[in-house]
Amino acid sequence: MNDWVYTEKVKDHFTNPRNVLSQDDTAVYDGKGKVGNIKCGDEMIMVIKVDKAKGTIADCKWKTYGCASAIASTSVLSEMVKGMPLEQAYKITPKDVTRELGSLPEHKIHCSVLGDKALRAAINDYYEKNGMSEKIEIEEARIICQCMNVTDHEIEAAVLEGARTYLELQEHTKLGTVCGQCKDQAITLLNAYIKKHF
Ligand code: FES
Repeated sequence: MNDWVYTEKVKDHFTNPRNVLSQDDTAVYDGKGKVGNIKCGDEMIMVIKVDKAKGTIADCKWKTYGCASAIASTSVLSEMVKGMPLEQAYKITPKDVTRELGSLPEHKIHCSVLGDKALRAAINDYYEKNGMSEKIEIEEARIICQCMNVTDHEIEAAVLEGARTYLELQEHTKLGTVCGQCKDQAITLLNAYIKKHF
């Protein structure tokens, strides 16, 4: 199989991205999120307008320096969330976005995680500015391998970059290469993240 083949919907959203934030956008937004993926060297900015009476997203715009997959998936995400309750939008995963797009080459899934991360950051920003900080869920990393200082977030990132076995996870993170005590927990997480994203 040639996994460079993109679906028509991906191509459409890449060549004609929706809801792109323009330089001279003077509108006032209620929440702004900015995230980056150091590995890819890309960045994503997302802004939302909130219908405060209904607690839904009234508008969503974004800008990225990411690749085709990041552009297409964020374009589709920005359409999905319009009119959606904030709580529901907060729970959108890259898998939901990929499903909406049709499909994405497996090795490009990690490019699509920026959009939903930026969206959660924008919603958190809105919560913070409007006295609702109790709704903010902090995505704190947990150290799984004490010896090599590897967190659950790094395990998830390795899965998104293609690690499918314990050995591949070790190649990506160096986890488990000293005392080996973290192995069982790491394998459980590895399988959980594969299930979550693929
Ligand atoms: S805790 Fe992972 S190698 Fe020791």
